[in-house]
Amino acid sequence: MKDSIKNQLEDIKNSGLLRSTRLISNCHSSRVVCDGREVLLLCSNNYLGLADHKALSDAAVAATRHYGTSSGASRLVSGTMTLHEQLESAITSFKKTESALIFNSGHAANVGIIPVLAGRGDVVFSDRLNHASIIDGIMLSGARLVRYPHNDYKQLETLMAKYAKGRSLIVSDAVFSMDGDIANLAELVALKKRHNALLMIDDAHGSGVLGEKGRGTATLQGVVDEIDIQMGTFGKALGSFGAYAGVSAEMRQLLINRARSFIFSTSLPPAVLAASIAAVEIVQSKEGDLLRERLAANTVFFRAALAAKGFNIPEGSTQIVPLLTGSAVTTMKFSDALFEQGVFAQGIRPPTVPNGTSRLRFTVMSTHTMDDLAFAVEQITQVGQQLGVI
Ligand SMILES: Cc1ncc(COP(=O)(O)O)c(C=O)c1O
Repeated sequence: MKDSIKNQLEDIKNSGLLRSTRLISNCHSSRVVCDGREVLLLCSNNYLGLADHKALSDAAVAATRHYGTSSGASRLVSGTMTLHEQLESAITSFKKTESALIFNSGHAANVGIIPVLAGRGDVVFSDRLNHASIIDGIMLSGARLVRYPHNDYKQLETLMAKYAKGRSLIVSDAVFSMDGDIANLAELVALKKRHNALLMIDDAHGSGVLGEKGRGTATLQGVVDEIDIQMGTFGKALGSFGAYAGVSAEMRQLLINRARSFIFSTSLPPAVLAASIAAVEIVQSKEGDLLRERLAANTVFFRAALAAKGFNIPEGSTQIVPLLTGSAVTTMKFSDALFEQGVFAQGIRPPTVPNGTSRLRFTVMSTHTMDDLAFAVEQITQVGQQLGVI
């Protein structure tokens, strides 16, 4: 057994894919103290800077004082707390869905929801670049997995014509987590209707950021009422933790009765629920509008500046900005050298992304200043030249 663990680790090391984590010793803001030194943070999903917003931390502290530190058990065992209900009601009006159900994380939501919608004998059509938690959900469901090429709806149509016989489900990231591009939801809605399928989107990276008041990708594209399950998370732009599914009242009831990650797990604690409630309020306020404007301006500047230096930055418009280097080894050298120059940007390698597409995944925040981003571009350019990436 010991040898097997050692061998597995050796294999990972030898393929240049060994992972380890850095130590952050302050708040997750635009600058962090990381492994003992202050660096510019360019790889956090805290896009709007809400993770260290006073309204969120005040709400979390007050909720802890009033309700304690734990929810005690699964909601089906020891009850729903008023804060769960308040957050679900806030999400229902934020996402403009009939109802909503909270999950303990985005991963828990995807592995809980998908097996309710599809099982043995059914088919799930999944974009090739969907998040790993979606794949995990499909595997757990026992349904047949049919992957379609990234955002290729012609191919999806062909595959659906061939395989969508009984119950079927289309699942797609709305904003792709490692690529930062956006799915065409109207195309997916048309296909779901033509083939009598359900449609689920994972808007982990669009919620709070895209569309009117940050309601998300479905609002941006005007298809809110056509999507069966709008899943999103609180741990990214919303600066908190956990996830939700915006669904019909009937679907909510079914999920409460069938989604195993909802049924068999202690529900989110008061502090987290209260922070999320505060976040949902802020993103819909004037302050939220300002934060999104700043994020958009920062994103335009950063994307254009890197492209102008000759880096391979795939087309896109969101705050997730991949810089493709191709090789896992170069990617990690790039990330380490940048860290030495005061910029923390994580390298992303297989299996998170397909072979040959290793990259630095930069994420812009509204709390970055233009000076921060200009500094980052300068350091990235220097390291890119040293490593022969440009
Ligand atoms: C698209 C997508 N879905 C789901 C998740 C999982 O969410 P969570 O971190 O809340 O588990 C992530 C990232 O973590 C993600 O990028």
